[in-house]
Amino acid sequence: MKSVALDQKFWKHFAKNIWEKQALALKNVKSGLLEMSAAEIFDLLVLYSDRCRKLNDPEGFKFYIDGFKAGPEDVLQVLPEKSDKSLLGYHQRMEAEFSDYCLVCDELLQVNLKKQHLLTDFTDELYRHVGFPNRFSEMGLYLGNYRQTPFGVHVDSCGVFSFPVVGTKNFRLWPAGYGEKHPALDRAFKYDKYKKDSVVIKAGPGDMVYWPSSAWHIAESDGSFSATWSLGVWVNQPHKEMFTDSLKDILSTKLGAKGDLPTTKFKSLHNKSGEVSELPQAYQDSLRTLQNLTSEELQEAFLKSWMKHISLQGFKTVPGVRLKLSYKSKIKLRSDRSLILWQQGVIKKNTYYFSFGGVLVESNSFPLLKLVQALNDRKAFVVGEFLKGKTAQADLKSLQTLADAGALSL
Ligand SMILES: [Fe+2]
Repeated sequence: MKSVALDQKFWKHFAKNIWEKQALALKNVKSGLLEMSAAEIFDLLVLYSDRCRKLNDPEGFKFYIDGFKAGPEDVLQVLPEKSDKSLLGYHQRMEAEFSDYCLVCDELLQVNLKKQHLLTDFTDELYRHVGFPNRFSEMGLYLGNYRQTPFGVHVDSCGVFSFPVVGTKNFRLWPAGYGEKHPALDRAFKYDKYKKDSVVIKAGPGDMVYWPSSAWHIAESDGSFSATWSLGVWVNQPHKEMFTDSLKDILSTKLGAKGDLPTTKFKSLHNKSGEVSELPQAYQDSLRTLQNLTSEELQEAFLKSWMKHISLQGFKTVPGVRLKLSYKSKIKLRSDRSLILWQQGVIKKNTYYFSFGGVLVESNSFPLLKLVQALNDRKAFVVGEFLKGKTAQADLKSLQTLADAGALSL
């Protein structure tokens, strides 16, 4: 294994030669993600588990016993507790009960503002070099004494970055297309006869392993305890899907109620010879709507979809917050790094669009724009300083929508 700092030179090399092409293993990587200690991770887990217990909902956690997924009520019983004192303490409690268990916690870092930047520092650089994901990235923590990935050998539609925190992990990888050629390997736990075509990458705390979305893989261990961060960057949404989805949105708005009709009226389906030569009226009307779309309308619609997409910051979701705003609330951005995105209407210049966490707010209020700009300048202030007069009530409602999406803190 080579030792490389994750600097610009590394990322350039990565984007050109490694990304979606081949696996990579690095020793002693310098990254904020790896600076997080096992003790800090344990505290985060307990915090998140406490929240789940309070809400009586283990959303975000998955638990596997001997490769079988446990139901939600059972998951609540096996989450880390403060009295475990450490990851190892938790493991000892679990090990006494389960000879093969795996706890997965998705999005542990995203729910924790103080540590979130450790993840976004990494993903920001990644996206800058390989592009913003059309789908999203997901960061999960995997821990347990499981000897193999609970669902066997598989291939995902995501490239994976893996960072072991405790213990040693062995990642067994097969080349692209291998599982398709050898269907018996799919979901297999026994694969001796295919081992000769695989490589095993051994990684421990401080190391980073990457494999492309095409690699068939399984994690193996000797049954001792391990904890690993795994960042999956999904690559199964091609540009054409993004583009046609945006176009679909514009068209469904433009077609209005006519777009909802479940049947199509026609004069004749075909002539005597079977020739089809005429479009039904509904098609002719919709075609005219399509032809009449101006380049400004298209520009605005695509810009809006793009802004909404990037306001999720490359993740599946941005955790919302419960925050009831009033004119007296003193607010600031929830995170200095996560601005509320905005744009001016292309067609109507006094229309503004604001976006955070995948929600989009439309407004023609200049005071609201000023307020958002002040927030993005990292200022803290009382809502009423900006929102006054007759637009104040509507503006407060728009601001509340952005607050619900997680944009603000008090
Ligand atoms: Fe996987």
